[in-house]
Amino acid sequence: MALAIKGSRPTMTYTRCWYHCHAATMKGGHYSVIEDAAIVVRGERIAWIGPREALPPGAAEAVDLGGAWVTPGLIDCHTHLAFAGERSAEFELRLEGASYAEIAAHGGGIASTVRATRAASEEQLLDSALRRARQLLRDGVTCLEVKSGYGLDLPGERKLLRVARQLAGRLPLTVRTTCLAAHALPAEYAGRADDYIAHVCDELLPALAEEGLVDAVDAYCEHLAFSPAQVERLFRAASALRLPVKLHAEQLSAQGGTQLAARYRALSADHLEYAGEADVAALAAAGTVAVLLPAAFYLLRERQLPPVEALRRHGVPMAVASDLNPGTAPVLSLRLMLAMACTSFGLTPEEALAGVTLHAARALGLVDSHGSLEVGKYADFVAWDIHRPAELAYWLGGELPRQVVFHGLEVTH
Ligand code: NIG
Ligand code: FE
Repeated sequence: MALAIKGSRPTMTYTRCWYHCHAATMKGGHYSVIEDAAIVVRGERIAWIGPREALPPGAAEAVDLGGAWVTPGLIDCHTHLAFAGERSAEFELRLEGASYAEIAAHGGGIASTVRATRAASEEQLLDSALRRARQLLRDGVTCLEVKSGYGLDLPGERKLLRVARQLAGRLPLTVRTTCLAAHALPAEYAGRADDYIAHVCDELLPALAEEGLVDAVDAYCEHLAFSPAQVERLFRAASALRLPVKLHAEQLSAQGGTQLAARYRALSADHLEYAGEADVAALAAAGTVAVLLPAAFYLLRERQLPPVEALRRHGVPMAVASDLNPGTAPVLSLRLMLAMACTSFGLTPEEALAGVTLHAARALGLVDSHGSLEVGKYADFVAWDIHRPAELAYWLGGELPRQVVFHGLEVTH
């Protein structure tokens, strides 16, 4: 099924108005509702939003939304969406009692996706990535992050980041790319993790940054991946290239990654199940977003909950993301993550929605232009067939969008 923008973009700056809707603007990270709202869009951006009765005269074409609820377009700020193959056999092994770490230690896990990804062509990877991105889009996503991390050498990581860049030209989506070359140790560097990190810092990352393929740098700080000292070396290299950092931190065990991420003013620290009070205080002081990933928690049958109460108390913005990946999160709906973040982690539906809009934008460094319905931001929004915003976190599955608008134009599918 094709997904495209209806018609072509008019050449002149063009004003349209959407009305007969209620808006959960998510300004300030709250619903910040405008009842019986109107949204005026000039070109790609919101020019005016407010109660319909206060609508300034002169707006051009008007679209009746029939009483729908409008929210900002959803933002998936943590995905590993580009990869080859699938790992349902490992899912079966885990159900029989094998752990994620045991599977990884026997050459499965990330390493098996690396073998499949290295063997795939750029066209094959683009084709499967497009299929996954379309599914997210149908459920209201207008912006997403795509990490590399299944190539683990220069040609492989380049291939994945090129695929990520191409998604934005092929679909009505904003895409941010993250280089996750420090995701796992490739087989050819077995026993030489420091040498691999040196290669990433000195050759791989500078080359990909030079090619304009990298918006941010991430790493997996874990006993089965890289140590805080190795991650710090990478963060120094990223800083020298003026690239922002993010980190998979405290997912399976407490390693100190969260505080390291805070020291480098990371955009986000992600997972955080094993993070404690001092880690949360460090995130707050640094202004780093906590990205919660309920699908990996669920699929790994994890018991340790991320420190949501402490994150709230310290005022750390909480984003929610799919973590879409073939191992721990074969997720094709970001909206389903709202339900899981509420039921598993105890977020309120309002916090969960802020987690896939305003705070997700912050986790990607896009908060000035994305994540809420405010004048000057991109006109990326979804009109939903719901009666209250909490319904977005309530239905498990299904398709609720009545209309998706990207940069001021309706998306058809
Ligand atoms: O975010 N934690 C590391 N990376 C992924 C899992 C990747 C995989 O198993 O392929 C995650 O959960
Ligand atoms: Fe991840």
